[in-house]
Amino acid sequence: MKDDTKTMEGRETATLIVGGKTIELPVITGSEGEKGIDISSLRNKTGYITFDPGFANTGACRSAITFMDGEQGILRYRGIPVEELAEKSTFVETSYLLINGHLPSSQELNGFSVLLNDHSLVHEDMRTFFSNYPREAHPMGILSSMVNALRSFYPRLEGLSRVEELNVQVTRLLSKMRTMAAMSYKISLGHMVVYPRQDLSYCANFLNMMFNTPVKPYALDDDLIRALNVFWILHADHEQNCSTSAVRLVGSARVNLYAAISAGITALWGPLHGGANQAVIEMLEKIQINGGDFEPFIARAKDRNDPFRLMGFGHRVYKTYDPRALIMKKVCDIVLAKLNRKDPLLDIAMRLEEVALKDPYFVDHNLYPNVDFYSGIVLRALGIPTNMFTVMFAIGRLPGWIAQWKEDHDDPNWKLVRPRQIYTGPEQTHYVPIEKRG
Ligand code: CMC
Repeated sequence: MKDDTKTMEGRETATLIVGGKTIELPVITGSEGEKGIDISSLRNKTGYITFDPGFANTGACRSAITFMDGEQGILRYRGIPVEELAEKSTFVETSYLLINGHLPSSQELNGFSVLLNDHSLVHEDMRTFFSNYPREAHPMGILSSMVNALRSFYPRLEGLSRVEELNVQVTRLLSKMRTMAAMSYKISLGHMVVYPRQDLSYCANFLNMMFNTPVKPYALDDDLIRALNVFWILHADHEQNCSTSAVRLVGSARVNLYAAISAGITALWGPLHGGANQAVIEMLEKIQINGGDFEPFIARAKDRNDPFRLMGFGHRVYKTYDPRALIMKKVCDIVLAKLNRKDPLLDIAMRLEEVALKDPYFVDHNLYPNVDFYSGIVLRALGIPTNMFTVMFAIGRLPGWIAQWKEDHDDPNWKLVRPRQIYTGPEQTHYVPIEKRG
């Protein structure tokens, strides 16, 4: 493909010479100047497809939600830098921004909060569903099943327009997923479920549902509530990552919102994606057991014959420090100072980071701490058990998934996602009856 972009009918194009044919392909330019070659007509025109395992170089959609620049470490939601939102916004307001495309007026924010409160209870029959799950089941498995089950517990609403119905579904999900997460924790302990309170904010309610007990009331603390807001804001969207792509892909078959989100939760569970926050803490704990000596872990991460990776390091898009990790590190300090607590895992993490960032392997591979490197330490300090870490990520990512699903759903040019492949199996062969097989 030649890089000599030229204009055709005033539009930039790329010229491709392939299989003896020369064709012009349109170039698409994003609002931040990012360019892509539109190859959607390639197969029709040439019989060729593109090959891009892992879609590292594929733009799957146009999106107006989140902008990332992996080289410069930039992350913006609807144009607003994540640093500003982390400092000034709340998770509820950021959710509104992502889903609706603009910051809410006071009236809009109030209406949204009222809806979140109205939908915060979970159908009592769902508790039976929870109770019958094996106690040792991973909370992410439970969460994805429960979210999928929401459609059965809350079928279509008659008499509402499509937009009204969607609003109800969105607020239901945002509100109930938080309640279900706390409920599953309580049930796993064999404790009484704590219901949401109308007088508490979204984040305060979650902490209260998680940690309040009849014998030991939970003391809500503004700094910790703020830390949770920031934690969730930092996770709220990350453009076309694995779980979001799963939501879009499954959603493209026009399944209901709950089913698409359930697919996203399942994808997020993986240790290379959202499961990394749990994996980081488990790795730091192993280093602690090893007397704090992380050198063997670094050596293993660098060994090409060893599948081990330094968890919380590296990112498909960021080739510099993940901007979310910088903020998360500050939140760590604030939370630990507030609780007047030292976490030995934080010391290990900081020393590990210092050494890794100077190591030629990590430098050459552009491997920097990602959001998960410090997030587990924040969650530990808040009292969240390790096996709930990825659930915390999922609650945070929910508004992003919803916004991306909605964008796809509202797109008049939506398409069922159906990639192609390069087949490498046997050429045509014939069925052999079982008695004649060798
Ligand atoms: N430790 C050691 N080596 C690494 C690491 C790591 N954490 N990450 C990447 N590499 C190496 C990898 O071995 C490969 O080396 P080589 O080219 O010599 O074979 C090279 O870097 C490129 O790796 P890749 O897997 O092709 O790159 P990717 O863009 O697919 O990887 C990643 C992205 C996140 C899957 C990877 O960096 C990783 O596995 N990190 C650890 C898991 C983790 O922390 N995940 C959380 C990601 S942030 C949260 C989220 O958004 O989900």
